[in-house]
Amino acid sequence: MLLIYFVLLSFLSLISALKLGSTEAYFNRDGRVNIANKNWMSNISDSVYLNHLSLPGTHDTMAFYGGPLVQTQILTLDSQLRVGIRAFDIRCRHINDRFEIHHGPIYQKSDMDKVLQSMVTFLGNFPTEVLLVRIKEEHIPKNNQRSFADTEWFGVKL
Ligand SMILES: *[C@@H]1O[C@H](CO)[C@@H](O)[C@H](O)[C@H]1NC(C)=O
Repeated sequence: MLLIYFVLLSFLSLISALKLGSTEAYFNRDGRVNIANKNWMSNISDSVYLNHLSLPGTHDTMAFYGGPLVQTQILTLDSQLRVGIRAFDIRCRHINDRFEIHHGPIYQKSDMDKVLQSMVTFLGNFPTEVLLVRIKEEHIPKNNQRSFADTEWFGVKL
């Protein structure tokens, strides 16, 4: 029953992806934005708990390549940070003891070091902000000498 539900759900999202893909109004195609919320968290009292906030986030934050069924974002990570996104969904393929950014099998021409570099630079400039980052394993691991967790905790270099 659950399986049928998921199949149906996938089918419906596929249909809507194809349908919406043809109606430009729903998408930002050129990646330009005219809003900036670089330090909106500075307005929140330090006594507010993180779990009392609703944070704007992006699904498959770094999926820029691979066509309409794979691409989920147009704004670069730096732009997402500037417009106020604070929750990130980073999908990593574990390869050569590094993390390359993937969406499924499609390499997204970036890696974890670049992602962290952007985030650390941003937080250096706007220290009132908090970023939540989910790191998920994506695609087939290849040519690793250590576990995904060991790369996650010890392998990332800035
Ligand atoms: C803080 O809130 C005020 C009042 O809503 C708003 O005018 C201001 O732009 C906010 N500042 C930031 C940094 O978001």
